[in-house]
Amino acid sequence: MLTPSSRTAWTKIRDLQPEEDVTQIVISGASGDLARRVTQGLLERAPLCNLTLVTRSPEAIEAGGPNVSVRKGDYEKPELLDEAYHGGDILFLISGLNLGRRTTEHRNAIRAAEKAGIRHIVYTSVGGVQPGNPALSAIDHYQTELDLRASGLSYTILRNALYAEIVSAIWLAPAARDGVLEMATGHGSLAPVSKVDVARCATAILADPADHDGAVYEITGPELLSMDDIVRLGSEVFGTEIAYKPVSEEERLQFFDSVGLPRTYDPNMPPSAEGHMWASDELVSADLAVAQGYQALLSGHVEQITGEAPAPLRSVLEKVKDTPYDRIGSAS
Ligand SMILES: NC(=O)c1ccc[n+]([C@@H]2O[C@H](COP(=O)([O-])OP(=O)(O)OC[C@H]3O[C@@H](n4cnc5c(N)ncnc54)[C@H](OP(=O)(O)O)[C@@H]3O)[C@@H](O)[C@H]2O)c1
Repeated sequence: MLTPSSRTAWTKIRDLQPEEDVTQIVISGASGDLARRVTQGLLERAPLCNLTLVTRSPEAIEAGGPNVSVRKGDYEKPELLDEAYHGGDILFLISGLNLGRRTTEHRNAIRAAEKAGIRHIVYTSVGGVQPGNPALSAIDHYQTELDLRASGLSYTILRNALYAEIVSAIWLAPAARDGVLEMATGHGSLAPVSKVDVARCATAILADPADHDGAVYEITGPELLSMDDIVRLGSEVFGTEIAYKPVSEEERLQFFDSVGLPRTYDPNMPPSAEGHMWASDELVSADLAVAQGYQALLSGHVEQITGEAPAPLRSVLEKVKDTPYDRIGSAS
């Protein structure tokens, strides 16, 4: 944990002068969409800030600033992480994608951070993390949150609600073509949040971590929406009537069977071209978490952290409705 004296050692990056010895921020998982947004946010805030971008694909990113270095790192290769995190003070630990396997991956990252002398970790978790949540994804995040708390490092946890961009591209865009959104989300509700707002929060916290020591934030959009609210907004923005049809867990699994997804997650199955390892058990378990109320969370944390209210779903839909999910980052 940070001691009162070490707290005073933090440098707020917006106050930096070029010649000052500055805090080194490490962004781990640096080629992903959220990482790119946060890197850009930090550089806009303080163009001379010291950043280390750690990624499995160093060739895929440009440094973008005079004090930015790019290093190779992989949560599955602890020996690379030791070197990659060397010299860091703050780590933005972006959760990986390998369901089941990633609890070990994140543990590798936390251990490497400790060895490197990193003082504070900012971690991307998910809303509704608690025992009993059926979402397989939440089970992983819960374990990593426990590991972080046990590490003795100072930390901030961002429990991110479902990305509003996923609601647009993965839920509503296909439903607009079919006229119906069929999911096993029952009559649950959720407060989708734009990645823009998640990135704004992470940027603000990484810039001034001492202000967020030990905080667990629920990063939500500004409205708690029922599934009927979501299809109503989708109908208005996509310009075509979309109905919501709650289906059973088995019906949803059968739909994913019909489009060729494996039913059961296998930690050793090969990732898709996008690096995802989708199996219908993950997706349906996420639906069930909504149905059972685990995503029924609404907080004012985005505004508290950034001073600006998060974007409502309608405005996100208007902005990204014509963009496929994997292109939203580069398009916005
Ligand atoms: N709240 C939500 O709705 C939601 C939805 C989807 C995902 N997520 C979570 O939020 C995270 C950030 O979202 P995003 O949109 O930026 O995802 P993204 O664009 O798909 O990026 C995935 C990130 O995971 C990193 N990663 C995966 N496996 C890794 C490994 N073995 N070692 C190191 N890094 C690894 C990648 O880093 P490199 O490729 O640079 O190594 C990349 O930054 C995701 O990784 C996921 O855990 C949340």
